[in-house]
Amino acid sequence: MYTSKISGLGVYVPDNVVTNEDLSKMMDTSDEWIQERTGIKERRWIKPDSGDTASSMGAKAAEKAIANAGIDKKDIDLIIFATLSPDYYFPGGGVLVQKLLGLDTVGALDIRNQCTGFVYGLSVADQFVKTGMYKNVLVVGGELHSKGLDKTTRGRTVAVLFGDGAGAAVVSRSDDQNRGILSTHLHSQGEYAEALTVKHPSMTKWVPEVVADLDNLTYYPFMDGQLVFKHAIVRFSEAIQEGLQANNLTREDIDMFIPHQANLRISQYVQKKFGLSENQIHNNIQKYGNTTAASIPLALTEAVELGKIKKGDLVVIAAFGSGFTWGSVVMRW
Ligand code: UT7
Repeated sequence: MYTSKISGLGVYVPDNVVTNEDLSKMMDTSDEWIQERTGIKERRWIKPDSGDTASSMGAKAAEKAIANAGIDKKDIDLIIFATLSPDYYFPGGGVLVQKLLGLDTVGALDIRNQCTGFVYGLSVADQFVKTGMYKNVLVVGGELHSKGLDKTTRGRTVAVLFGDGAGAAVVSRSDDQNRGILSTHLHSQGEYAEALTVKHPSMTKWVPEVVADLDNLTYYPFMDGQLVFKHAIVRFSEAIQEGLQANNLTREDIDMFIPHQANLRISQYVQKKFGLSENQIHNNIQKYGNTTAASIPLALTEAVELGKIKKGDLVVIAAFGSGFTWGSVVMRW
């Protein structure tokens, strides 16, 4: 088996900053409520005429990750693209990233695992690299939430949470046996699929039926927030524990924990449970909101750029979200 590691990281966020104050002009909400319940201060939403999409933002992040890895685009052997806000119903956005990057006809795989999408993507990339099938796999998470949110008081519980943006990582074969991705673990529990969902349009109810029944709002995200919260804190903790145990490590070994940025209160709960200090966790939901598949690369890249992750550090990533799906990645940086 080969060793795999993250060799490059890159992010892209739209310039347009939307503060909690801005939201309070669109719906009955307040900076106080949003910060107290979620930690979010602002998020990025594309300007509607910007032309940005999940795949175009993903491609911009990918360009940076490839440059950061110090490789050429033609060295990418496979694209993995995670999003819950695709440009098209089909085809998936992976092929659009391939086109935008001008890559050769490499494979493009789409991941539909929402907030856990990047963890699933890293796991798939890790398998391809470890088995020797590919040398460089591009993993991209891109999200365009702002066009699909109910920005009225009716949709406020969900609308205040989500932000647009993208992040990417290159997962590469490595000669260094002592560093790289140590383990990945993936989980799902479909009995809660409807607890966090956009149900329609889909093949259970296509556009004409949705349009005929617009009051049902099934085209906006629905979330049973408290149920999701309760499961999130349990599954985050399990995922971390499982990753540590698989590598004969304990919580004392964690140098940096990068949680999916769902809610600062969830991250803080997990931080406390594992006895992690402020220097052992990185959150940036305050600036970007929840960017689902993009949130982990956005936080990981920032932590690296701030010098909070150093060579040899044990980095633990965990995510939980719609599906329900959850998982972890444990890496020696
Ligand atoms: O990344 C995917 C995974 N997602 C998550 O992990 C999210 C998990 N869930 C959560 O983070 C929280 O459930 C939320 C932040 C979404 C909501 O917080 P909460 O403490 O569960 O609030 P709630 O939904 O129970 O609502 C409490 C009150 C309600 O008013 P009443 O009934 O007490 O009068 C809501 O109508 O807050 C009201 N409310 C708001 N008020 C101002 C709901 N949303 C808002 C809002 N602004 N945006």
